[in-house]
Amino acid sequence: MFPLIAPSILAADFANLQKEVEMLNGSKADYIHVDIMDGVFVPNISFGIPVTEAIHKHAKKPLDVHLMIVNPDAYLESFRRAGAEIISVHYEACAHLHRTLQAIHKLGAKAGVAINPHTSVNLLEEIISEVDLVCLMSVNPGFGGQKFIENTFSKVERLKELILRKGSQAMIEIDGGVNLENAPKLIAAGADVLVAGSFVFHSPDPKATIAGLKLI
Ligand code: DX5
Ligand code: ZN
Repeated sequence: MFPLIAPSILAADFANLQKEVEMLNGSKADYIHVDIMDGVFVPNISFGIPVTEAIHKHAKKPLDVHLMIVNPDAYLESFRRAGAEIISVHYEACAHLHRTLQAIHKLGAKAGVAINPHTSVNLLEEIISEVDLVCLMSVNPGFGGQKFIENTFSKVERLKELILRKGSQAMIEIDGGVNLENAPKLIAAGADVLVAGSFVFHSPDPKATIAGLKLI
């Protein structure tokens, strides 16, 4: 049932990761969004494969792994083995995106492409039929808690038009600064999956916040 909600574990309390994952298990969340940052592609380091495995050990929801790293090809198999069901790579980090998506599919995972705020959706024209999910960055990747970039609304519309025109099955995911204010407009524009980090985990009742987003 759409919209799908993917809380970003980046905003969770890392000292109580098991408890946080169990909270998500008992919530209306559809996926657990896992943000991997390498300190090269983005100016921040989050966590890597062992922590993804630890999350997966307790998770009852699919892991939606967002790789904000250079050379993602070298780590696809490790993240798949660590429990990733969706693996998104950045358009800007892949010289041979078609090959990378094929490799993800060969591992039995769904293949996502994330694009930065400055990257045009038109650049996906020749690849969209191979993509299961497009992660539209609505902030510059690297940090949670940033301000939503308003240009995203029209970008969702342009991407939806491209997906329909090409007969692609790709879902549109929005990542960064999502809250109850912009979410209805994003859904109306064509978004299928909403990632929310701070808005969920920094709220007084994260489960209720997830349920609120799900009700849109
Ligand atoms: C940004 C990450 C996002 C982030 C979302 O680099 O890819 O997934 O954690 O967090 P909020 O919802 O706080 O912007
Ligand atoms: Zn993300």
